[in-house]
Amino acid sequence: MVKNTQVVVTGASGFIAKNLRKYLSNKNIKLISVSRRNFKKFKNETKIITKNYDETNIIPKLKNSDVLINLVGIGKQTVDNDYNLINYEFTKKIINLCIKSKIPKIVYLSGLGVSKSSPLGYFISKYKSEKQIINSNLNYVIFRPSYIIGKNDHLTKYLKKQIKVGQINIPGSGNYSIQPIYIDDVSQIILDVIIRNKSNMILDLVGSESITFKNYVKEFSSQTNTKIKKINLETVYHDAITNSKSAFGVDDLNILIGDFKGDHKKLQNLFKIRFTSIQKILKSGSLL
Ligand SMILES: NC(=O)c1ccc[n+]([C@@H]2O[C@H](COP(=O)([O-])OP(=O)(O)OC[C@H]3O[C@@H](n4cnc5c(N)ncnc54)[C@H](OP(=O)(O)O)[C@@H]3O)[C@@H](O)[C@H]2O)c1
Repeated sequence: MVKNTQVVVTGASGFIAKNLRKYLSNKNIKLISVSRRNFKKFKNETKIITKNYDETNIIPKLKNSDVLINLVGIGKQTVDNDYNLINYEFTKKIINLCIKSKIPKIVYLSGLGVSKSSPLGYFISKYKSEKQIINSNLNYVIFRPSYIIGKNDHLTKYLKKQIKVGQINIPGSGNYSIQPIYIDDVSQIILDVIIRNKSNMILDLVGSESITFKNYVKEFSSQTNTKIKKINLETVYHDAITNSKSAFGVDDLNILIGDFKGDHKKLQNLFKIRFTSIQKILKSGSLL
């Protein structure tokens, strides 16, 4: 089954996509990976480089695929790339690609905290994307991830950069929690969704433990000589609002301080994998 399975990955050069493609390639899944820029391909992989995902060029190349995994998304807006355009309209484009290429199933990564009642623009764009996937008649699995952690995720990169300069800044008290999940566990779960008959569900994609951000940072940097400093939240928000290059974007802060918790038990019951303990990874220093 695995050998004959063909999977399309969009947004192929992003953090999750890169790790997932490597994992699936090693499991002998045939990959068609789509990106706006050139990238190094893995075994069993075909590359499609396209600036605008133009249908006439792409559709013939996607035929006979079993699943599409859409990993295109943004968490910070600009005038040219806002949430409506990339998180919502682009998902519409991807759904149409699935329908026209006769790909029966789509996997989408939404966000932990997404709900009908969320007032946040980022979550609203993700919620509306979920809705259009559900209404598309495609088979779907929608994940709502907390922080997905690996060597090169955005949070890990931020912390490593701060360690280099000797001080990690924590927005506010740091008493809010995150529920990180390891990237290899995410890849294993997505493989299971690809090869088994799991469809039409929305699942929180979260690790087994919630940890306060201040403890996370403490353990992350425990083997280094790094000072940890709490920065006044007003100062951090002000920087996020006025400086497009700030370490934390406005929605990074909203998500962090949102203190969202997910249903790990449901994930565990469905996938029955041995989840990696993030605290163990942090203690081992292997993310550094
Ligand atoms: N990482 C996490 O912890 C996390 C948590 C919750 C949800 N998610 C969701 O998971 C998905 C992937 O996340 P990630 O961490 O891998 O993000 P990432 O590293 O930023 O990758 C996102 C990819 O989206 C594509 N993209 C961005 N702007 C685009 C545009 N204007 N037009 C076309 N494609 C564009 C890019 O693909 P190319 O450069 O290859 O074209 C980019 O590499 C996103 O939807 C994100 O919201 C991630």
